[in-house]
Amino acid sequence: MKEKLHNIKTRAERDVLEVVDSSRLKDVQVKYLGKKGEITQVLRSMGSLSKEERPIMGNLANQLKVEINSLIENRKLELAQKEKAAQWETEKIDVTLPGSMPLIGQNHPLTLVMEEIKEIFLGMGFTIAHGPEIETDFYNFEALNMPKEHPARDMQDSFYISEEIVLRTHTSPVQIRTMEKVAPEVPLRIIAPGRVYRRDDDATHSPMFHQVEGLAVDKDISMGDLKGTLLLFARQMFGKELKIRLRPSFFPFTEPSAEVDISCVICQGKGCRVCSHSGWLEVLGAGMIHPKVLEISGYDPEEVTGYAFGMGVERIAMLKYGFDDLRLFFSNDLRMLRQF
Ligand code: DAH
Repeated sequence: MKEKLHNIKTRAERDVLEVVDSSRLKDVQVKYLGKKGEITQVLRSMGSLSKEERPIMGNLANQLKVEINSLIENRKLELAQKEKAAQWETEKIDVTLPGSMPLIGQNHPLTLVMEEIKEIFLGMGFTIAHGPEIETDFYNFEALNMPKEHPARDMQDSFYISEEIVLRTHTSPVQIRTMEKVAPEVPLRIIAPGRVYRRDDDATHSPMFHQVEGLAVDKDISMGDLKGTLLLFARQMFGKELKIRLRPSFFPFTEPSAEVDISCVICQGKGCRVCSHSGWLEVLGAGMIHPKVLEISGYDPEEVTGYAFGMGVERIAMLKYGFDDLRLFFSNDLRMLRQF
């Protein structure tokens, strides 16, 4: 029996060492220590031994049982370590693999157009002015020569916050705010870019949109200065061949007033669907600052004159990029936004 136990020990040691996958250790355990395992069977066969031999052999068998158990446990730890190391090896970062590009944000087309407009006017010596989006009735209408019952207010369906407070319907109130700060000092040349609000919503109108206001006040400013400035602007924005024309119009805060058209950027003035076959596209309103507006802002209309203009940024951007629906700018569609 002693020999048998020795033999079991040798085979168990070899079996344990031969296992390379920790999940197979269980088999070795069952083979020697399980219910029908070899050691278990030896222990069961003790009855056939003499009284003297029984405790000695029992002892040896139990010792071997403990030994094999610890062999298995040690091998288990060893294999776990090896497996962990192999896992690290396969999961190691391969710096030679191509990286994945992070999503990088970009400017909205309206921001791009706004920046371009600003750059053009900054290049002509204008500076940038700002005013509040929540405006008083006085700056938004009254000071621009649109008293309470003036029918011109109907053109700008407004969001009122109270009777005297309104979301500005145009950037023109920045004219007054800027002039009253510096009057009667001249010269003054500013543009005022920003958001404006009206109760409109269709393919060419949005309740929130952007305008850029322009303003120049000096001695002897004429309509010729206005036209020259706008021509320069339009050509830098849309191309050297472009023509502009001024059509008589009406705004309460300018006299005379004009609508300014550019030759159609789609058909170069030949006539197409976009320009309703006229060859011209209306892009902004302009005029010579009304004497009353100069006066209320602190200037002497006998001493100085000025021009003003206001353009819709969405309109310019639609023409520049060939959009036929303004709502595209605000729908957050990445397929559109990623093109810029
Ligand atoms: N504020 C006008 C509008 O939103 C546009 C405008 C017209 C601005 C004539 C001007 C101007 O400065 O002179 O409809």
